[in-house]
Amino acid sequence: MAKRVVLAYSGGLDTSVAVRWLIENEGAEVIAVAVDVGQNADADEADWDAIRERALAAGALEATVVDARREMAQDFCVPALMANAKYEGKYPLVSALSRPVIVRHLVAEARRHDAHAVAHGCTGKGNDQVRFEVGTRALAPDLEVLAPARVWGLTRADCIEYAATWGIPLSVTKEKPYSIDENLWGKAIECGVIEDPWNQPPEDVYTMTRQTATEPVEIVVGFESGVPVSLDGRLLDADVLIAELNQVTGAYGFGRLDMVENRRVGIKSRETYECPGALALLMAHADLEDLTLERDLHHEKARLEPRWSELVYDGLWFSPLKQALDAFFLESQTYVTGEVRLRCEPGKCFVVGRRSPVSLYDYGLATYDAADTFRHQDAAGFVRLWGQGVATWSARQQVPSKSPGSAAPGSAAPDSATRLSAAPVSADPVSATPGSADSESGIGSS
Ligand code: ARG
Repeated sequence: MAKRVVLAYSGGLDTSVAVRWLIENEGAEVIAVAVDVGQNADADEADWDAIRERALAAGALEATVVDARREMAQDFCVPALMANAKYEGKYPLVSALSRPVIVRHLVAEARRHDAHAVAHGCTGKGNDQVRFEVGTRALAPDLEVLAPARVWGLTRADCIEYAATWGIPLSVTKEKPYSIDENLWGKAIECGVIEDPWNQPPEDVYTMTRQTATEPVEIVVGFESGVPVSLDGRLLDADVLIAELNQVTGAYGFGRLDMVENRRVGIKSRETYECPGALALLMAHADLEDLTLERDLHHEKARLEPRWSELVYDGLWFSPLKQALDAFFLESQTYVTGEVRLRCEPGKCFVVGRRSPVSLYDYGLATYDAADTFRHQDAAGFVRLWGQGVATWSARQQVPSKSPGSAAPGSAAPDSATRLSAAPVSADPVSATPGSADSESGIGSS
């Protein structure tokens, strides 16, 4: 029986060649699965029928297109938002979020077709191979994963020739100077002149963030327990909301990133991203958390967020630590409900207001006006106890204060020596340094 392989198919040159290559070199029956995660938003490429046809022309036994936009938004972008996820503090994980969605569908199709393996078109240098393979091993450890582009040794020119030889129609796949990966959460642009990190990305790399709008606009994003649910009061499904925010904020030229990042495989890579909707939502969501999260919860959450981003970047979407962190983040979002006002102006988008029915901002406590309800008399005792430890430390161990720059250059004793001579060791440090006890500190009195 022929080996049956489910291939993650994009419609591009590499995965089209992969269809034929798997047939010729693995003797495989190929099921091509194209997963719509919101890529090709720029109309002319959203031709899923043509993509299906191309897979069949390349020799696929069957070619399926799955619309996973809502799933991508609800199950992947929303958890990333709850985690305020930015890899290395900047990159909102665009490609890293779509691979596990695709893996889910590859595995489902593999089961439906009783396949032996899944396959992807990634090379050996990137993160996406890691995400496909580790994800598949988590969901279906029995499935083999094939990576033809890692073994075939074909250049781009070879691939074009290979496609021509086998009559694979690639006329619609124009020669592009960049490698592009796109979904609802944004777009990653690599290769070409931007491989030199010194080169400014030319304007033609950008498609989602071309500035066309000039009149400032305000847009109100509504959240329910951390989930974005509305724009200007209109209730929207997450996929529609994200797509709309991409349009609105992208039109102001907002949402570009230019960075050098650390890939999982040990390569530093120069990346250009466009993620207007994602960055606007992340900004709004984090702002609403400022208003609604209790301090300790907020601070602990902030410590865990980078870990979540690393796990997801590294292909560990389906993993126990990531799942446990998800549970923590979900719980943390219980009261992240309210609205955030964003203002867009040419080149920027920023928060200008926020409100919540469960806000922890207490006007009476915060105000300096007559409405003040804060118990000022409690502050003195609190602050004294808060400082008790350092007061004791200062009295017994601290170097006597010197005016800055009083020591002649080269003559200053090292810190430790100064400290030892200033605070001689004694059985009774208080009586050994008479007069040094701070009367406020209470040292010496019982
Ligand atoms: N460096 C980014 C990441 O690892 C983007 C990868 C883009 N993928 C691609 N096949 N062009 O998530």
